[in-house]
Amino acid sequence: MFTPDRWLGTAFCFIVCTSAATGTWAGEGPSLGVELSVDEVAAVDITVMPDGEGLPAGSGNAKAGTSVYVANCMACHGEKGVGGVNDTLVGGHGTLTSDRPQKTIGSYWPYATTLFDYVRRAMPYQTPGSLENNELYAVTAYLLHLNGIIEEDKILNAETLPEIEMPNRDNFVWAYSP
Ligand code: HEC
Repeated sequence: MFTPDRWLGTAFCFIVCTSAATGTWAGEGPSLGVELSVDEVAAVDITVMPDGEGLPAGSGNAKAGTSVYVANCMACHGEKGVGGVNDTLVGGHGTLTSDRPQKTIGSYWPYATTLFDYVRRAMPYQTPGSLENNELYAVTAYLLHLNGIIEEDKILNAETLPEIEMPNRDNFVWAYSP
């Protein structure tokens, strides 16, 4: 119930809160949030472009990626990227024009660099950002290898990853001229 002393508390808070807000408002902006430090910006400034711009140092191949995948991804995406409770990551090649198209990294994604970017920013689902760059290159290589796109010992790094031609990349059309 709203008793008089609660009214007082509410009124007090209203006065304090409003004056706190207006106090810093004058001349300094709307007081929404705080300025990020250089380190905080760097932690979220991780976009990798299709041409590989923004890829970090590090490297890995599919052999090294096997254990990364088993430890961090298999529980949700299944053994070798198939049959898990979440998205299928392997296969579906040639199905896109069929009645039952199966979109996977291998059958659908136009750029290998996007795979690195996506895994780095969003996976493992419950702990994104927990993998080292070498592990990210390695698990990217593992998934590309399972999709038949690269050899098992092919080393991926900031130079070799953008060179990979994904099977479906020419089937995307530009909605606007680049
Ligand atoms: C706890 C479960 C879980 C784990 C562990 C996990 N994922 Fe995922 N993953 C998901 C879910 C759920 C989605 C779909 C997310 C969405 O659509 O927003 C997904 C989507 C993806 C996709 C996009 C698939 C597509 O074609 O759209 C990729 C690639 C992927 N995960 C890779 C990985 C890798 C690599 C790892 C290990 C480093 C990993 N995931 C670990 C649950 C998981």
